[in-house]
Amino acid sequence: MSRYKILYQISGSISAYKSAIIISKLVQSGCEVQVVATPAALKFIGTATLEGLTGKPVLSDMFESGQLMDHINLIKWADLVLLAPATANTINRLSQGLADDLIGALFLAHDWSKPYLLAPAMNTKMYTHPATQASLNKLQEWGVKVLPTADGYLACGDEGQGKLLDPVHIIKAIMQALPDQPGKRVLITSGGTREAIDDVRFVSNISTGRTGAALADTFVRVGYPVTFLHGAQSKIPELACETVPYSSSQNLEDELKKVLSARDFEVVIHLAAVSDYIPEKLEVDQEVYVLPLTDKLPSHSDSLSIRFRQNDKLLHKIRGFSKNNAIKLVAFKLTSGADETQQKQAVVKLFQNSSCDLVVANDMQDRRLDQQASFHLYDSIDTTTPISAARVEDLAESLINNLFKNQEINS
Ligand SMILES: Cc1cc2nc3c(=O)[nH]c(=O)nc-3n(C[C@H](O)[C@H](O)[C@H](O)COP(=O)(O)O)c2cc1C
Repeated sequence: MSRYKILYQISGSISAYKSAIIISKLVQSGCEVQVVATPAALKFIGTATLEGLTGKPVLSDMFESGQLMDHINLIKWADLVLLAPATANTINRLSQGLADDLIGALFLAHDWSKPYLLAPAMNTKMYTHPATQASLNKLQEWGVKVLPTADGYLACGDEGQGKLLDPVHIIKAIMQALPDQPGKRVLITSGGTREAIDDVRFVSNISTGRTGAALADTFVRVGYPVTFLHGAQSKIPELACETVPYSSSQNLEDELKKVLSARDFEVVIHLAAVSDYIPEKLEVDQEVYVLPLTDKLPSHSDSLSIRFRQNDKLLHKIRGFSKNNAIKLVAFKLTSGADETQQKQAVVKLFQNSSCDLVVANDMQDRRLDQQASFHLYDSIDTTTPISAARVEDLAESLINNLFKNQEINS
């Protein structure tokens, strides 16, 4: 399995505890993480936590015996360097080119062919101070990717800019900045589309995105790079992968096209519940409007009617979008109250009407809130004997065996 090497630097902010969340997700996603922390950072988060999470001693002292050349060697080792949280002090010191601590020396020795990400965290006044802003601008000019801060409640009791960006967004930025991971890329579409009626209302479906997110986590855990397209409110994976949000079915189609035409993917697992019908026209008080409306529809009329048009089947277009002609396509078929024979008939019909290689069938009756669903995996070559899986993790394992059988993972 291919493992990214992340040099994770922490400086002395109250938000340093959040680095444990980020590091934990990176490690679970198969990354190797080496922590460098300033002495001030170690007043906020303990070496036991950091060493426990990474399995490596925390480096802090440039003159530590046995590690004297770390300020050069770590740069050669790392695929990406992250400073999160970055204090005002460290930011201003880096912009002056000071190298009397490990983080400063590592910065000057940085190899700029590798990404250097920095996530500031401080009180609003410290953040907006001209000294800090000038330093951030200078660092950006030198090639540092400075992440935005979040707005919100700060530990000092103030509200405003300067809060450390949410760990989920930091992980997303890391995934975007890393070079393409070698190995067999998997694209998963998940969640449900939203078809707008006006600027506050939409038509959607009950898809939660939980199955897709759990599948993505299993693929990431065993070493496959995953790109995850998800609906507005749907669940996103716990582990680090590239995530791309979408809203309507047209927006999902556009994003899918963009992603699939830019890079080679080995597999597309299309779980997204795409609206079969799109709201097209609205009739109210003898007036007909083309949808979606740009403003909010007034709510004073006794009744109104909406006409829907049938949507195109996105599944049929996926192969055409793909840079890799030999892409493997997995579709999902959700039935409602179908027995085994009816489910099989629905699957056979889907194979006949589409060019997918595998179909995962499940029925509404089997859906459980706790995600314990009964999945039946059908192969286009033999539709008589599906493989059944009770849990999403078992389904992921069957998919991996089927899609990559006789192939070494990430060879
Ligand atoms: C409770 C507490 C919280 C702090 N939080 C922050 C912070 O979020 N951001 C910041 O820039 N400095 C913060 N500081 C100040 C830094 O810890 C201080 O400037 C320190 O010298 C930074 O050292 P370093 O940049 O080498 O880690 C805080 C200090 C204390 C006592």
